Amino acid sequence: MTISNIEDLRREARRKLPRMFFDYIDGGAFSEHTLTRNTEDFDQWTLEQRVLVDLSKRDLSAEFLGARYSMPAMLAPVGFAGSFWPDGEVQAALAATDAGIPMCLSTFSVNSIEEVGAVMPRGLAMQLYVFKDRELASEIIRRAWKVGVTTLFLTADTNVSSVRERDTRNGFRTSSSLNLSTVLDLLSRPAWCVRMGLHGRLMLGNVKGKPGVPGNLMAQAAYLSANVDPSMSWSDLAWLRQQWPGKLVVKGVLSIEDAGRALDGGADGVCVSNHGGRQLDGARSTISMLPEIARFVAGRAEILLDSGIRRGSHIVKAIGLGADAVLLGRAYAYGLGASGRKGVRQAIELLRTETELTLALMGMCSIDELRANRGAVRRLAGERSAAARSPAERVRDAAENEVTADR
Ligand SMILES: Cc1cc2nc3c(=O)[nH]c(=O)nc-3n(C[C@H](O)[C@H](O)[C@H](O)COP(=O)(O)O)c2cc1C
Repeated sequence: MTISNIEDLRREARRKLPRMFFDYIDGGAFSEHTLTRNTEDFDQWTLEQRVLVDLSKRDLSAEFLGARYSMPAMLAPVGFAGSFWPDGEVQAALAATDAGIPMCLSTFSVNSIEEVGAVMPRGLAMQLYVFKDRELASEIIRRAWKVGVTTLFLTADTNVSSVRERDTRNGFRTSSSLNLSTVLDLLSRPAWCVRMGLHGRLMLGNVKGKPGVPGNLMAQAAYLSANVDPSMSWSDLAWLRQQWPGKLVVKGVLSIEDAGRALDGGADGVCVSNHGGRQLDGARSTISMLPEIARFVAGRAEILLDSGIRRGSHIVKAIGLGADAVLLGRAYAYGLGASGRKGVRQAIELLRTETELTLALMGMCSIDELRANRGAVRRLAGERSAAARSPAERVRDAAENEVTADR
């Protein structure tokens, strides 16, 4: 099958993975409205076409999280990636390194921090879920620092776990052992069974062997999901700030109020995210919230954005509206499920080519130029004549155009 875009990789992942794992990647909370809206809302923004510009020297490199990378994107934390492909997190880290971009490792990874750190000398970030047992979080932080992680992402939107109905149906993270229908599901993908079977038993690498943590992946998943601390609050950010000497990013910010609290708590960055539509169904899409959050943050911290990115034009829109970089979630998880390191590399390169072309057709050669070029990304509604817009729409459009003007 020819792979031309992320949707092709998605189809390939569906063909290769047992339904339980494909649905875990692909699904969202409840009716999946936010999941859908995340991608659709990028269409609310238009790009300015400019012509006859010298495009012979183009460069997508961008500075974020303290270093320059080959493009303004990184791999998002994706739990259980080692069950999509053998050594999934290591394979993703190798692909990210090949491509010159960073990656954030999930607390719920199959490969341990040490295994991933060993193949990724530069650009490894760590995502933290804080458990009821705070010592477990402290230990993960210490281990991350020891392997050279410089940025910690605190995931703030999962004090309670939402319901993903596809997972419930498939028994993923809800049941601690395999039943007949799960076994039949796994057997329906014999190549996956052979690949994973030859690799050995799956466990969550960062917590295996800890007292109280069960001994198989399904049970570990159910156990850990039930042990994320629901009392975690803004006051705990100070505790984390004290423990972590590196950069700290709060992931899951979707309002200016929470962005403000993150900055007050000493965060170096906010990640505008709704967990890819996997938590609050009905939440606003991240791209629709970005302009006002960018205006509020106004350069005081870095802004990352994820949720819904499937095209290079989405990356251009996010950067044009104020993000320093984006995180890729499902886009690379599909690649990993489709063909391991090669598939992740394919996902990154597809998005890189699309981003570069989009930018060039806008008459720009670099990300720095996009950042400086206010007004190249405009709200679709803003194109209607002023008379056709309601007073509220006019105020909003003026404010948003100011956002890009401020940068
Ligand atoms: C399969 C899967 C597992 C995920 N696991 C985690 C996780 O362990 N920790 C976390 O902070 N976010 C996790 N996320 C959310 C991603 O980091 C990211 O916010 C989201 O995927 C972005 O949306 P997108 O998939 O539409 O790009 C996961 C997402 C997916 C798809």
